[in-house]
Amino acid sequence: MCGIVGYVGNKKAVDILVDGLTSLEYRGYDSSGIAVNVEGKVELFKAAGKLQNLKNIIEKNYSEISKSTIGIGHIRWATHGAPTVENAHPHSCNCGKVAVVHNGIIENYKELRAKLESKGCTFRSQTDTETVAHLVATKYGETHDLTEAVRLATKEIEGAYALCVIHQDLPDIIVATRRNAPLVVGLGEGENFVASDVPALIQYTKKAMYIEDNQIVTLTPDSIKLIDIDNNPVEQKTEMLPWEPVALSKMGYKHFMLKEIHEQPDVVRNVLSGKLRAIDENVILKEVTLDREKLKDLSRIQIVACGTSLHAALVGKYLIEEFCGIPVDVEPSSEYIYRKTITDKNTLVIGVSQSGETADTITAVRQAKSKGSHILIITNRPDSTMAREADSLIPVNAGIEVSVAATKSYIAQLISFYLLAIYMAEVKGVTDLSDLKHELIILPQKIEKVLAHKEDIQKLARKFANFKDFIFIARGINFPTALEGALKLKEISYINATGYTAGELKHGPIAMLDDSMPVLSILMSGKVYDKILSNSEEAKARNARMIALTDSTDTKLDELFECIIRVPEISEILSPALAVIPLQLLAYYISEFLGKDVDQPRNLAKSVTVE
Ligand code: M6R
Repeated sequence: MCGIVGYVGNKKAVDILVDGLTSLEYRGYDSSGIAVNVEGKVELFKAAGKLQNLKNIIEKNYSEISKSTIGIGHIRWATHGAPTVENAHPHSCNCGKVAVVHNGIIENYKELRAKLESKGCTFRSQTDTETVAHLVATKYGETHDLTEAVRLATKEIEGAYALCVIHQDLPDIIVATRRNAPLVVGLGEGENFVASDVPALIQYTKKAMYIEDNQIVTLTPDSIKLIDIDNNPVEQKTEMLPWEPVALSKMGYKHFMLKEIHEQPDVVRNVLSGKLRAIDENVILKEVTLDREKLKDLSRIQIVACGTSLHAALVGKYLIEEFCGIPVDVEPSSEYIYRKTITDKNTLVIGVSQSGETADTITAVRQAKSKGSHILIITNRPDSTMAREADSLIPVNAGIEVSVAATKSYIAQLISFYLLAIYMAEVKGVTDLSDLKHELIILPQKIEKVLAHKEDIQKLARKFANFKDFIFIARGINFPTALEGALKLKEISYINATGYTAGELKHGPIAMLDDSMPVLSILMSGKVYDKILSNSEEAKARNARMIALTDSTDTKLDELFECIIRVPEISEILSPALAVIPLQLLAYYISEFLGKDVDQPRNLAKSVTVE
């Protein structure tokens, strides 16, 4: 949560900060601010609400602000203190010479604040971050060295942070550091950049250096100095980023979410590429480094994830148990980390995360790693903190996902689970999965067929957009699809949507049904088809407004369902990878019709870096 960016060089810093914040907006968007050094004075500009409010302030003061060639910026997702101007970053100290931006949570801020107040520091905000500004200013007063001041401050700070600091007397120095929050430096010619994430840098440089926990980096226009918390120099490892700026464009679509939904056929092709070449060849998954003999003998697998990634994990459980007969537990990371988990070196622990920066999942995999488990990470960000914890790393190659609502990363995670489950089954020598392999290869065409009929889903969305509640029902391997359909709808339209296993309906939720409740049945051909059909009859008998999502061509369904979303025929085992597409579109069109902020829904952020 929160995005930070810093620039030092020879260009107008404000332009680079604003661009950087715009590309980091997915990380939080309830307030924002910048600090620049204008003619030897640190000036702060801050605004509550969306980034546009800050842009308006900057526009009015542009002639003054644009004189600065150094600056730091911040986009906030509030944790401590409401999203007001006072609480927006950057924060400063009494003398106003130090400015700090921060992503994370300073856990001991209350003690630090009391100590600093007793020394005469006056606080202007309710944030944990302001303590850092005062602390660094105090240390600078003692050392007259900004790097040393930041280093000494980090010795006293507990919690998670990525920090960027500037000082009024040092118009060409930024000091940055991190612990359990992402930070990347971009290296330019006569200029350097620092940010929470690559999108803020990529249009200026592809040469990057990832900062590790407890390292402190000092940037000037022409130099980078890297030390650890004990003041030892650290070797600088630079790499070329494989990203193209075009990935951050909407490419003519109204929203990133719609663009990302349409990218899914190619995402499936990408994930399969090089791993599944032909139906009579085994899946190649070199990324799994666990010894084949150990893989054969695994007695248990645990999968930890949150949100949409958790739903992909639930499909993964179904596949691995079905093909390999290995018991798989799936648990939200946020629950896993607060109980006694039975994990050891014979357990494979899989962490799933689009961003690779979700704090709960990072903690969960670290916890399992400390008990000796092999850690397999499935992520869209092989450059992330979580990826660096991996013994085996499966990058899902969905490309950058900007919309807060995950779509293409979900399909990429699903396909990765299909490949993993087939690979494990082949290692165990337990089953012939050539039919499934064939279906995987032709899946992109089926998704394209669904996308070609998106106007039908748009019509349906308009019909149901004003309902206050929604129920999604399914059974078996599509129960996670029901959960995911409901999550998509609630997060971007704020409609109260819930996914239930269809069999559970009669154990309570059926009491809610009447003609004000749409029930969407995920009715894919297979062994639970008839059961879901009966559950749908039961719902219809309570006057619920029935919608079917099906690959069946049975015309009798027209009597039971008011509306039917038809998708191409597909095997039950692969159906989650197709059935989710219309549900993403339904959520998108309802949100768009209601005039909601599709790509940046309220109260959410793309990476949740707090526990
Ligand atoms: O980056 P991660 O996959 O670890 O993120 C997990 C959830 O925060 C994420 O899936 C969230 O639920 C999305 N907004 C869902 O669309």
